[in-house]
Amino acid sequence: MRLKDKVAVITGGASGIGRATCIKFIKEGAKVVVADFNETTGVETVKMLKEQGGEAVFKKVDVSDFKQLEDLVNFTIETYGRIDTMFNNAGIGFSTPILELEPTDYERIIKINQDGVYYGILAAGRKMKELDIHGTIINTSSIFGFIANVNTFSYNASKGAVRLMTQTAALELAEYGIRVVGIAPGIVDTPIYDTAREKGLTDLITDKQMTKKFTQPADIANVVAFLASDEARAITGTTVLVDDGYTS
Ligand code: NAI
Repeated sequence: MRLKDKVAVITGGASGIGRATCIKFIKEGAKVVVADFNETTGVETVKMLKEQGGEAVFKKVDVSDFKQLEDLVNFTIETYGRIDTMFNNAGIGFSTPILELEPTDYERIIKINQDGVYYGILAAGRKMKELDIHGTIINTSSIFGFIANVNTFSYNASKGAVRLMTQTAALELAEYGIRVVGIAPGIVDTPIYDTAREKGLTDLITDKQMTKKFTQPADIANVVAFLASDEARAITGTTVLVDDGYTS
C-alpha cells in the first residue's frame, strides 16, 4: 500500500496505460480521479475500480482546454480534499509522412499531447503550491521523445517537448517540494495499435524491442506507481524509459 490515502488524478485514465495505472493506484491504496474525454469508457473504468474495492470517481475532461484542467483540479480538491499526484497521460497519435502532414493535424497533436501536459502542470502545480502539498506531477513522454521515427513528426515534437517541460518544471517547482517526472514507454499493448493489429503489422512494430514483444500497460503502471510513491523521493526532472530495451 505504497500510495495509501494519496489522491491521484489520471488523465487518459479510461484506456490503456491510464486505465492500468488507475488499477495499480487503487491496489496501492490511492483514491483516483479518472479524467478522460470518453465518458462511456471512463464510467466503465470507475465501475470496475469500485468492484475491486477502490475509491474512484469519473470527471470528463478535454486536456486541450486549460479551464477544464483547472476545473478538474478544483473538482479533485472538493471531492477528496487534496491532490498528491497529477498524471498527465492523455495523448493521441497518428502516422503521416511529414510532407503530407497538414498544419491543422500537427496542431491537434501539439494541443493535446504537449499543451495538455503544460496545462496539467500549471493547474496542479499552482494548487499544490497554494495548499503546501509536496506532490508529484508525472508526464507521459515516449521513446519518440528521445529518438526519431518515420511518419510521426508532430508526435515526436510533442513528446520531446514533454521531456524538456518535465525537466524545466522540476527545476522550478523543487523549492515547493513538488517533484516532476516523466515516463517514456516503448511499444505498449493498448488500443493505440488497434489499426496495426487489424493490418497484421504488430510483429514489424515490436521487432525493435529487445524482447520482440509488446510492453504491457501494467509494466508502465508499476513504474508510475513507484514514481508517485515516497520511495522515489530523490527522483525529479528525469524521464524514465520503460521500453523493453527499444532505445538501448
Ligand atoms: P489509449 O488510446 O489507450 O488511451 C488514451 C486515452 O486518452 C483514451 O481514453 C482517450 O479517450 C483519452 N484522451 C484522448 N484525447 C484526450 C483529450 N483531449 N482529453 C482527455 N482525454 C483524452 O492510449 P495509450 O496507449 O494508453 O496512451 C497513453 C499515453 O501514453 C499517451 O500520451 C501516448 O502518447 C503515450 N504512449 C503510448 C505508447 C504506446 O505504445 N501505447 C508509447 C509511448 C507513449
